[in-house]
Amino acid sequence: MRHGNVTDLAEAPAEPSKIVVQGVSLRYAGATSLARSNLALDDVSLHVADGEFIAIVGPSGCGKSSLLRLVSGLLAASSGQIRVGGKTVQGVHHSIGFLFQSDALLPWKTALENVAIGAVLGGRGQDEARDRARVLLQEIGLGGALDKYPSELSGGMRKRVALSRTMAYEPDVFLFDEPFSALDAQTRIHVGNRFLRILENLKQTVIFVTHDIDEAIALADRVVVMTAAPGRIAAEFRIDLPRPRDYYQSRLAPGFSEFQGQIWEVLRHEMQGVLGHER
Ligand SMILES: Nc1ncnc2c1ncn2[C@@H]1O[C@H](COP(=O)(O)OP(=O)(O)O)[C@@H](O)[C@H]1O
Ligand SMILES: [Mg+2]
Repeated sequence: MRHGNVTDLAEAPAEPSKIVVQGVSLRYAGATSLARSNLALDDVSLHVADGEFIAIVGPSGCGKSSLLRLVSGLLAASSGQIRVGGKTVQGVHHSIGFLFQSDALLPWKTALENVAIGAVLGGRGQDEARDRARVLLQEIGLGGALDKYPSELSGGMRKRVALSRTMAYEPDVFLFDEPFSALDAQTRIHVGNRFLRILENLKQTVIFVTHDIDEAIALADRVVVMTAAPGRIAAEFRIDLPRPRDYYQSRLAPGFSEFQGQIWEVLRHEMQGVLGHER
């Protein structure tokens, strides 16, 4: 495994969870818009098992993106600890791949070249990287667009290229921050299904942030609901719907609407807090 700037905890006991967030708080220096002082996250603890897919939902501004930035090492916690694969996170490292709302493809590179960059960053040689990129793009249904530039692709196609680039990196852990929120409903179903097929096969550890409860239930093994700012964990729901799932059809499965109702109940309570505060 490649671990860049990750500290080795040789004396630490065997780690049962792939991702451990332990008593993490985050203060942004100089922030004034936060509800209570400048606290964005307040004593958040979260364990994610190896191969588990969790989704995080919560009111806007509750700290979901901040939490992902902490796990990715882009940001350091004010207090508490984060471990990935048993090692304390200190700075960005190669064991983690992320995909954010904006796809950030290089406009002067083709789809194939954009994906190959991910494989090169993941440690592959140039030729191998291109082969890997070709396979990944074929898998996600873009075999006919390998030599197209981002400006020649639709939003859904660009999203699939960006997703393939993250895959090409071969991380141990995937972090997704509302990756499909900019897509229209139909494209989202199409891309969401491709995404589910690939991730269900990979069986990698995933944290997926979304504001869409239905999306969270359709994708995840467990849905974690956060409180309004400063973010804490409000509730967790184990989603025992059978796999493989369909991004859209699984919403019609028995049990889905019960999860929807229970999660919405927690969120509604949190949103009331937010709206009440603004009044
Ligand atoms: N770089 C930053 N500097 C100061 N405050 C920030 C910064 N990034 C986010 N915040 C604040 O931290 C809180 C949590 O933000 P964020 O993690 O983006 O929430 P979410 O992703 O749940 O919408 C918000 O109040 C936001 O304004
Ligand atoms: Mg966010």
